Amino acid sequence: MRNGFLLVTLFVLGIEGLQLSGILRSSETGGFLLLLAGTIAGIVWFIQANRNRTPSRSERENFAWKLRSTRERERAFYELATTLSSTLDFQKVLDATQDIGKLALHDPDPNERLISAVFLFQGDKRELHPISSRGLTQKDSSRLTAGKQGVLGLALQQDDPVFAINAKKDNELSYYAGFQPCLSLVAIPLRAGFEEYGVMVFGSEKSNAFSDESVDMLKAIGKQATIALQNAFLYQKLLTEKERIVEVEEDARKKLARDLHDGPTQSVAAIAMRVNYIRRSMERQPQQAIEELGKVEELARRTTKEIRHMLFTMRPLILETQGLVAALHQLSEKMRDTHNTNVVIEAEQNVEKWLDSHAQGVAFYIIEEAVNNARKHAQSDHIWVRLKRQNTAYLVVEIEDDGVGFNISEVNTDYHLRGSLGMVNMKERAELIEAQLQLTSQAGVGTKITMVVPIKRQPSDVTEPIRPVAHIDNPLQISANPPTQPQKDKSNIPYATKRSPSS
Ligand SMILES: Nc1ncnc2c1ncn2[C@@H]1O[C@H](COP(=O)(O)OP(=O)(O)OP(=O)(O)O)[C@@H](O)[C@H]1O
Ligand SMILES: [Mg+2]
Repeated sequence: MRNGFLLVTLFVLGIEGLQLSGILRSSETGGFLLLLAGTIAGIVWFIQANRNRTPSRSERENFAWKLRSTRERERAFYELATTLSSTLDFQKVLDATQDIGKLALHDPDPNERLISAVFLFQGDKRELHPISSRGLTQKDSSRLTAGKQGVLGLALQQDDPVFAINAKKDNELSYYAGFQPCLSLVAIPLRAGFEEYGVMVFGSEKSNAFSDESVDMLKAIGKQATIALQNAFLYQKLLTEKERIVEVEEDARKKLARDLHDGPTQSVAAIAMRVNYIRRSMERQPQQAIEELGKVEELARRTTKEIRHMLFTMRPLILETQGLVAALHQLSEKMRDTHNTNVVIEAEQNVEKWLDSHAQGVAFYIIEEAVNNARKHAQSDHIWVRLKRQNTAYLVVEIEDDGVGFNISEVNTDYHLRGSLGMVNMKERAELIEAQLQLTSQAGVGTKITMVVPIKRQPSDVTEPIRPVAHIDNPLQISANPPTQPQKDKSNIPYATKRSPSS
């Protein structure tokens, strides 16, 4: 330090000497040289001051703390990144995304509050739901938003992170109490290809809280999180699908048990009673006993047919070997044979080839239940089953009768009390193949069920290209969006009805 002053003093004296001797005349030059002298003095002082100085205790502690926290951040970052790439748990993905985002955005500063939320599109209206958050109020957590304006809307439109400086002025986030004190906001869209999942938002009460580098990192996290979300969604869908298949099978077993109880079991009990009566009346009224025997024989034959019919509907082998239309023709024959019911099959040639064997099996079950309903409840002269292709995207199945019709609303209202399973089963099975069912009925005119099945395969003998389902004009307003998983609820109305004139 002393040396520095000495050097500068000598330097300034030298300059003055030169000016006095007339070599340097200009006062501007003198000012510049004085500035230069000051800078050199500063540098010399800095070098001197730091050459042999040992850091103070608090400086050492501070340095050690920073090193420790950097290591901890790195470890946490690594762990969260591993969680993100390995978990199929939806909630864990959302939590890890926010935690890792927080680490990426900030140096650890215990005094700074960071608010974050992951908004995902949900529901028919495709609104943004704050599915997971840090620092939002309970009320905020149930508040939905459109995702059309403010940082949310902009991030989604631009498919890029968007900054904002005041949450109170944001058209959508201002409604969230948790975000209101934020003076820095960044919104990162969560999107994979054409699939838009939602937006992740971070907010800080400090202004200019987020650097460009940290936002770049956040963008990478957003991409990783979207893939993790996609996997979690698919896994969830798979689980739900599995559960539904098990439930559908269980319902089918229940229905079979009830049908066996109501049908063949009753008939066999009646046969036993009549045989008992015949045995007792054989000696006293032999003629009547013979007549009764004839009736019992007829009843036994009918019961055999009923059981055969049930076995056929349970596992129509012809469906596996010759396909849906052949199985429907056999159903029609059996309906005539067993129940004296007239079922007319009108199918376009080779129409079943547009459905895979699983979809054909499900379609058969639904048609069989609808035909059976018409037989049991409609007292109709005819039942028609029609199968036709609606351009290359849908296969339309209609089951129509000219019977008594019924009041759909009334049946829907007390459906859960009736002990019926037929319509619920039909609806659930249709969901398994993503088909849409529509029921119309009119008193005295009849009932019609329309099922629209999306075509997912191209039969080998049809060369016409299949257009993607989403671009087809849909006569029955089928959603082009991926279907949300319906919740199974037996008390639910089994059909969304289009029209119910008798109600
Ligand atoms: N084609 C139809 N004509 C007249 N009424 C019908 C017709 N289809 C259904 N229904 C009415 O709707 C009700 C519900 O039908 P659903 O198939 O769910 O039950 P179910 O046939 O009574 O019993 P299950 O199918 O469980 O053996 C029927 O009880 C009947 O009143
Ligand atoms: Mg039924």
